[in-house]
Amino acid sequence: MNSVLEIKNLSKNYGRIKALDDLSLEINEGEIFGLLGPNGSGKTTTLGIVLDVLQPSSGLYKWFGQPPSSESRKKIGSILETPCFYPYLSAYRNLKIVAEIKECGNNRIDEVLEWVGLKDRSDDSFRTFSLGMKQRLAIAAALLPDPPVLILDEPTNGLDPTGIAEIRDLIQQISERGKTLILASHLLDEVQKVCSHFAILRKGKKIHSGTVEDVLNSKNSIEVAAENKEQLHSALVEWPFKQGIKESGNKYIVDINGEVNSTDLNKYLLENKVVVSHLTQVKTNLEQEFLKILSEHDA
Ligand SMILES: Nc1ncnc2c1ncn2[C@@H]1O[C@H](COP(=O)(O)OP(=O)(O)O)[C@@H](O)[C@H]1O
Ligand SMILES: [Mg+2]
Repeated sequence: MNSVLEIKNLSKNYGRIKALDDLSLEINEGEIFGLLGPNGSGKTTTLGIVLDVLQPSSGLYKWFGQPPSSESRKKIGSILETPCFYPYLSAYRNLKIVAEIKECGNNRIDEVLEWVGLKDRSDDSFRTFSLGMKQRLAIAAALLPDPPVLILDEPTNGLDPTGIAEIRDLIQQISERGKTLILASHLLDEVQKVCSHFAILRKGKKIHSGTVEDVLNSKNSIEVAAENKEQLHSALVEWPFKQGIKESGNKYIVDINGEVNSTDLNKYLLENKVVVSHLTQVKTNLEQEFLKILSEHDA
């Protein structure tokens, strides 16, 4: 795995406020990495430091395994410093200006407008755009130099549900084009839906990091019921993939790991001549796990 960003023992103090407190992180190529935490937990501070807009109080970071340089900075697109678009100019003209400032030529303007779904609005002036379209144009501007890494800070802030869904789709599409994405968000739902990896920040400290999948799978279980409860129970006890069995009313709740799912259990029960009357897989959402992680940290 190729390291994109490595953060080591980063701290940032504002007087007595510890905005970041000894943060270490590793982000690898191809990830959609979510920096998750409540307001004021240090997300924007972290992004500001690795984009070289803010000076850390201590610690270091490396882009692509190298100390930060103007060379590495060019490989990172970001909407942290959103370009000031001219309201009376078209999307195309605005991107032309960005391309001049970034010295990256005009040949990708049509392509990035296409990527963000604004191709058919490219001649319309910026002021006629919805907030979601403005945000997508900002992403288009960040993508103009074709950077391998894109950083987004609270990309869906202020958007309506349609706008949010569009940005989510866009993030996934950008990832499918081979880019590494780093996004900061205070929304669990957002991180759960789009990110592959994440870290939770609280008061400038990292309190958890890992894959989203692991958190979601960590407490997967299947609810199952059958007419013949005893027969069901003996079959469940013999099932090699069970992690635990709990009784709940007339159902059993079977804990599983990520290797198997409800289809596998259904097949197994059929093979053992158990006819089920109810079978559903229960996925805990990140919110419950997030709250659990927070409470474990308090303990
Ligand atoms: N320029 C600043 N001066 C003083 N305190 C700041 C400044 N910028 C951020 N902070 C403080 O640092 C902490 C982290 O802020 P921030 O990184 O913006 O959090 P987040 O992006 O997670 O909401 C907060 O307590 C915030 O009030
Ligand atoms: Mg912020």
